[in-house]
Amino acid sequence: MTAGWPPAPPAGRASRAKRGSPWTDPPGGTAFVAVPSSANRHARGMVAPMHSADRHILHLHRRGLLTGALALTALATQPGCVALAQEEGLFGLGVASGDPWPDSVVLWTRLTPRTPEPVPLRWEIAADDGFRQVVARGEAVAGPDHGHAVHVIPTGLQPGRHYWYRFTAQGQTSRVGRTRTAPAPDADVPVRFVNASCQRYEHGYFTAWRHAAADDALDFVFFNGDYIYEYGHRAVGASPLIARAVDGPECVTLDQYRARYAQYRRDADLQAVHAAHPFIVTFDDHEVQNNWVSDIPSVPQPAGVEFALRKAAAFRAWYENMPVRPAALPRGPDITAYRRLVFGRQMALHVLDTRSFRDDQPCGDGRKQACEAVHNPAAQVMGSAQEAWLFDSVRNGAAMQVLGQQIFMATRPYPGDQFSMDSWDGYPAARSRVMQGLRDRGIANPIVLTGDVHRAWAGLVTAGDRALGTEFVATSIASDGDGRDADAGALALIAAHPHLRFHSARRGYTRHEAARGRMTAEYLALPYVSRPGAEAAPVAKLMTEARAPGIIPA
Ligand SMILES: [Fe+2]
Repeated sequence: MTAGWPPAPPAGRASRAKRGSPWTDPPGGTAFVAVPSSANRHARGMVAPMHSADRHILHLHRRGLLTGALALTALATQPGCVALAQEEGLFGLGVASGDPWPDSVVLWTRLTPRTPEPVPLRWEIAADDGFRQVVARGEAVAGPDHGHAVHVIPTGLQPGRHYWYRFTAQGQTSRVGRTRTAPAPDADVPVRFVNASCQRYEHGYFTAWRHAAADDALDFVFFNGDYIYEYGHRAVGASPLIARAVDGPECVTLDQYRARYAQYRRDADLQAVHAAHPFIVTFDDHEVQNNWVSDIPSVPQPAGVEFALRKAAAFRAWYENMPVRPAALPRGPDITAYRRLVFGRQMALHVLDTRSFRDDQPCGDGRKQACEAVHNPAAQVMGSAQEAWLFDSVRNGAAMQVLGQQIFMATRPYPGDQFSMDSWDGYPAARSRVMQGLRDRGIANPIVLTGDVHRAWAGLVTAGDRALGTEFVATSIASDGDGRDADAGALALIAAHPHLRFHSARRGYTRHEAARGRMTAEYLALPYVSRPGAEAAPVAKLMTEARAPGIIPA
């Protein structure tokens, strides 16, 4: 993975590295916003953390043409737009929506113009799929400085209902996207959603998304990381896992990350699920680089400023391509993506960041016996600020407090007393502190939603003999290819450790329902992803109750 480092700058941009940190460049004039309605600003319990630096970077301007709505484009610093390709028209990367609140939702698209000039566009959102009842419309500019992506946030919407949206530019109109607002904070209604992760394009088709797109009962999709993989091109057949090829080298520069997102976004199944449901998205490691934490790349990749530059490029491309709110606008190599979304009285989803603020993986990473560093009582996975935020965030009154996060939390004692150092097993003191801290605040059964390991699991999060929470781990959409019904080693773990309850090594996702103080988890699995067209079938349906950790058949 180190071949060719540092990458040669693209032609015509050789001076980039000499201009200083790109994130300190002043923002340009393309970011703009209209003040949201007071109802939006006071929406209860859904305010994401926003550092003061965000407000400086945003450099926002009032624009009268966006009355009743908030629109945002990313900061302008780099002229490096690539004109993406071309026969597909302007809207070849599809549409998306995300971060639903009761009265607003982010609408997203990214244009593929033939030339790099800014493109004015119009957007509209309606209460019906025929656009006879348009409830908000406005204009925005998709410019090269943000990869021709645009984020628009209509406000004043009704809670707990579908809306339809579309974009128009240069005489072309996007496909129609459907989205859904969160229920009102006092609404006691079921919440149905998908937990999914890890869509390595090379490893298979995104058929699972086709099935999720057809599930009309979903309120949203939670995607907990590895939206892209950064690795460079390998030809189909180069290994048995390579079913499709990605273009280009390993992603390091902004243009490379942008191009990688564009390739993923051209996938028809991925476009379909984005057009069908709002997403709540966070990142794990591969949006930047395998197994990075904090400012530390995986060895032997370059660290220091070079890794900071890489993180800045990766996060900027992530922001541009995800339907997230402006609080997640990166500040160079730093980003605040942890946030809370509340879905009526049944559940609050706390989206965590277990990469950015974590101590280095102990014992040299990998699966190891515990070295001394594992026993560090001050070890951090979330960082002290995020921990304090979480302990405050759970005071919202919803029946179930759900942690949407990346790395395996329940302990997995592998043969030979080995543990995965890139999971919470590498940081047992942090795990106990977080889970006991939640218990101390009256959260009897924090429900943890995880990804990362490309396998489906269910288990109890324990500290010593005590169960402090319940974890449902979603398998991958495509990563690791077709898979198998189960790994023998995992089954042996379950047999030996009663806090581990379920395992599957197929591709798919988990479909959850939060209702009446219970969370169900239905595991959908596909028999193959190395070719298109697989059916999805449930392989388990489990349940936990808000009142105590536990897993029983549903
Ligand atoms: Fe992954």
